[in-house]
Amino acid sequence: MPKELFFAIVGTGSIAGHFIKSIREIEGCHISALCSSSKERAIQAETKFEITSYADLHLLLSQEKVDIVCICTSSGSHLEPALVAARAGKHVLCEKPLEITAARVDEMIAACQENGVHLGCIFQNRFSPDFIRLQQAVRSGLLGKLVALNAVIPWYRDDDYYGKSIWRGTLDGDGGGALINQGIHTVDLFQLIGGPAREIIGKIQTTTHDIEGEDLAMALVTFSNDVLGHIQASTSMWPGYPERLEVYGEKGSIILEGGAIRHFNVQGIDPDQSAPAASASGSSDPMAISHELHKKQIMDFATAVYTGGRPAVDGAEGRKAVAIIEAIYRSSRMNAPVIL
Ligand SMILES: NC(=O)c1ccc[n+]([C@@H]2O[C@H](COP(=O)([O-])OP(=O)(O)OC[C@H]3O[C@@H](n4cnc5c(N)ncnc54)[C@H](O)[C@@H]3O)[C@@H](O)[C@H]2O)c1
Repeated sequence: MPKELFFAIVGTGSIAGHFIKSIREIEGCHISALCSSSKERAIQAETKFEITSYADLHLLLSQEKVDIVCICTSSGSHLEPALVAARAGKHVLCEKPLEITAARVDEMIAACQENGVHLGCIFQNRFSPDFIRLQQAVRSGLLGKLVALNAVIPWYRDDDYYGKSIWRGTLDGDGGGALINQGIHTVDLFQLIGGPAREIIGKIQTTTHDIEGEDLAMALVTFSNDVLGHIQASTSMWPGYPERLEVYGEKGSIILEGGAIRHFNVQGIDPDQSAPAASASGSSDPMAISHELHKKQIMDFATAVYTGGRPAVDGAEGRKAVAIIEAIYRSSRMNAPVIL
């Protein structure tokens, strides 16, 4: 990278480590400081990562050289640090979901626009080479007319997972459960292939965990081109299986499993017999995912910052999966279809 860029990371829990590792590996990118929610946690983070840490983002931004603020706080606490960063003229790269409601996402988008800074949403699975291959096959018409799409996330999380971070599975902290936290990555890829969703019929349940949010969600989605799609997301399906995106067409079908193409069957093309790449799914262990896709996305965002271009997943892109999930929740509550 030709230009030097300086990062701050807000939130020093599990996923922050992926940012630290990634940024340290990108030439020209530097971490100026970390920000945690309390003095005690800031001291712990400073010791653990050997990076100057603050308990207050305003103070951090007044003391340190920062171009990009990465937000790794709990999902319902993304908006506040994003507003502080944007108003200080810093670009914002935020973990998924951008926020827990579309209205809060809109506040983030507006603040970034008003202050002339980029907003990016981490959806690292969009950078998986096998997903890109699937996307190119669909866009080039190899599958012919699309017939149906399935997004299936049969994951498992134990009680310890929900107990370790008190915000997980809560309505205020997480926005819900299996769908908005775990399933959202595959919902994002599903809508990227299917196109804008027009109508949603959803049903959610809490089946095996003592949490406020759902640990099972199902939805029937009608895309604006009339193609039908189905979503099933869970954190109750022991032992947890890799998530799948299934794309069925009149001339071919592709099934992506754990980020790798499991089946690629297209008329006139020899089926790809190559063994699927090793799965990097978080199906049973949230930290089983590699940092490599985060690194690709951070590089994409850094490039957008120094060229003035558009990041691959900007605020408007990040908002789409949140709006679909919010509609599934609303449909389940009302026991009626929701038109987007
Ligand atoms: N892209 C992925 O694959 C992926 C994987 C895991 C988590 N995530 C996302 O990353 C975010 C964090 O998840 P996690 O698993 O690291 O959670 P975590 O509970 O391990 O860490 C969150 C941290 O944020 C801190 N925090 C909360 N509010 C804060 C504030 N206002 N200022 C500073 N610090 C604050 C908490 O003290 C905690 O240290 C969530 O939005 C989650 O959805 C994304």
